[in-house]
Amino acid sequence: MMKTIMAGIISLDGKIARGEKDGLDWVGTEEKGWIGKVCKESRAVVIGRRAYESIGHYVEGMMVKVMTRHPEKYKGIEGKVEFTSRGAKEILVELFDRGFRTVIIGGGRETYSEFVSQGLVGEVWALLSPVILGKGISWMNEGVAEMTRFRLICTEKFGSDSVVVKYRLADKE
Ligand SMILES: NC(=O)c1ccc[n+]([C@@H]2O[C@H](COP(=O)([O-])OP(=O)(O)OC[C@H]3O[C@@H](n4cnc5c(N)ncnc54)[C@H](OP(=O)(O)O)[C@@H]3O)[C@@H](O)[C@H]2O)c1
Repeated sequence: MMKTIMAGIISLDGKIARGEKDGLDWVGTEEKGWIGKVCKESRAVVIGRRAYESIGHYVEGMMVKVMTRHPEKYKGIEGKVEFTSRGAKEILVELFDRGFRTVIIGGGRETYSEFVSQGLVGEVWALLSPVILGKGISWMNEGVAEMTRFRLICTEKFGSDSVVVKYRLADKE
């Protein structure tokens, strides 16, 4: 069975970035290290082309599947960075067949939304960063899913001011 974890760094007002092309300049080095470690431990991450272009450097040393509708425009490195126009489910099946058992869904909004809308997210891991951005990109698009409940796995204090929360999908009642 494949474990799919949607992981991201979130501001107190629920944003993941200030703008489409903005990276993680609003979070500290330690916090960036958290998402990097999470991705490296799973060894496989799926991200959107915009996230790859803005913050792709944090996913070195593992298999990165970059979602794009125009894979012919990009040059990947097989087994390291692969651009694909496959859908979310097909990507997971492919990664499973290639031996991966845990995959990080690394964002951004369009990519998170794609996996959530197809019911392909098993866990949500968020590093809550103590900042209100005031504007920016939310975790996911409005109306992307029916109400979906999760159960707490754990909380961990991170650094002096941040917290990591981990949730898993609740069983259907
Ligand atoms: N705080 C965090 O933890 C975190 C994590 C990740 C990203 N971010 C931020 O999020 C922002 C980017 O988010 P975003 O929503 O604008 O973009 P995104 O999800 O990163 O990328 C969107 C792109 O992915 C491709 N794509 C998405 N769904 C697809 C599908 N079903 N099939 C094929 N291709 C698909 C398309 O690429 P093409 O246009 O090439 O077709 C689309 O334009 C950046 O600012 C980044 O820094 C923050």
